[in-house]
Amino acid sequence: MDRFTIFLILCMVLLHSSNGFDATVSDSFNVVKYGAVGDGKTDDSGAFLKTWTAMCGIAPTYTPTLIIPSKKTFLLKPMKFGGPCNLHHNINIKVSGNIVAPYTISGYEGHDDIWLLFTSIDRLNIYGTGQIDGRGSIWWPNSEQRRPTALCFHKCNSLHLTGLKLLNSPRNHISLLGCNGVTISHLNIIAPKDSPNTDGIVIADSTQVLIHRSHIGTGDDCVAIIGGTSFINITNLRCGPGHGISVGSLGGGGAHDTVKEVHVNDCSFHRTMNGARIKTWPGGSGYAKKISFKKIALTEVGNPIVINQYYPKNEVPYPQDINKGSDVEVSDVTFIGFQGSTTSKNAISLRCSNSVACTNIVLNHINITSAIPGNKTSSICNNAHVISKDCNPPVHCPSQKF
Ligand SMILES: *[C@@H]1O[C@H](CO)[C@@H](O)[C@H](O)[C@H]1NC(C)=O
Ligand SMILES: *[C@@H]1O[C@H](CO)[C@@H](O)[C@H](O)[C@H]1NC(C)=O
Ligand SMILES: *[C@@H]1O[C@H](CO)[C@@H](O)[C@H](O)[C@H]1NC(C)=O
Repeated sequence: MDRFTIFLILCMVLLHSSNGFDATVSDSFNVVKYGAVGDGKTDDSGAFLKTWTAMCGIAPTYTPTLIIPSKKTFLLKPMKFGGPCNLHHNINIKVSGNIVAPYTISGYEGHDDIWLLFTSIDRLNIYGTGQIDGRGSIWWPNSEQRRPTALCFHKCNSLHLTGLKLLNSPRNHISLLGCNGVTISHLNIIAPKDSPNTDGIVIADSTQVLIHRSHIGTGDDCVAIIGGTSFINITNLRCGPGHGISVGSLGGGGAHDTVKEVHVNDCSFHRTMNGARIKTWPGGSGYAKKISFKKIALTEVGNPIVINQYYPKNEVPYPQDINKGSDVEVSDVTFIGFQGSTTSKNAISLRCSNSVACTNIVLNHINITSAIPGNKTSSICNNAHVISKDCNPPVHCPSQKF
């Protein structure tokens, strides 16, 4: 062979391999290639499942991407993206187009717990500028019935979610259950402020969860951190409307629940019912400890700082709940740098139980003023061991225990 022939062969080999690589990465797992229609009416869940199964079953030497193309709307019935996948790499889902839930309750065919379930998938990366609409308004009027969570991630370790817009879930928008290592950023989660139980993100039995640079405005908690969780960081979250960022409720029905190392930094609450809240039921056990809320901006927030060990009662406890004997312990909780306004009289409400009380509650650099011109704010405190400095309203804690 002359040098020119060798050069030609070399070029063809290179061209072929680079083409093959591009085709695999950009096209192979496009849901449209697997039969998805994307007209917003046809049920595309079968095509999505086929795409997922093909992608999850291969063992490539690169990171495969499931592509949901733009300018289309895919109707999905309740479905499961299941792992584990035969992969040593990350696995990507790029959402450029829109995804919508069934128009009718009967469209769920009895699967009324979860709309889209992701289970046992490690290193899953979901990103894009697409929109996922749970069409919850068909479910909300009958708030007593079971309603599905829009996106549930179960046992997904090293999960990344970024960029998406989530709308109108029938119930929670995102649930994390049994996940270790989650990063959530640049999400926009929106539902009407009176839609029932439409929490933004609910975290249970999970550890190492980072939520940052996102906006959540829904009808319930922006973020709810419930039992079995630790090392949760939330920064630069804009919350509102909604019920605030909540630890709990914990210990309901006598449960043993634990939460530790929750750090909320540089966040803002806009016209939310609560701001930073810890709520536990009488008669439970476990703990909520090492929790901090720092640099918090408030705009017309109902109850900016709340610890309530008599949940679900807000004010005085039920008589049968006093001295119940066991309670979830609340300790080492710090509120530092709260600035802004409240619509209620009691800007700070610390209602701790007789049986375990709250220990080492620190309040520093707090200035919460009334949204009503001329009104002053005040605080309520029972059975809490409080260390406070530079705090408006001041906290005086008469206590049986200290
Ligand atoms: C979480 O927040 C704590 C307290 O601010 C900080 O020490 C820690 O480094 C943060 N972790 C991550 C992963 O950002
Ligand atoms: C504002 O002040 C008025 C007059 O003292 C009082 O009756 C009212 O309850 C206060 N409202 C709030 C939300 O603090
Ligand atoms: C508290 O905030 C109010 C309203 O922003 C402001 O007028 C007041 O000076 C602040 N007080 C302190 C001690 O910073």
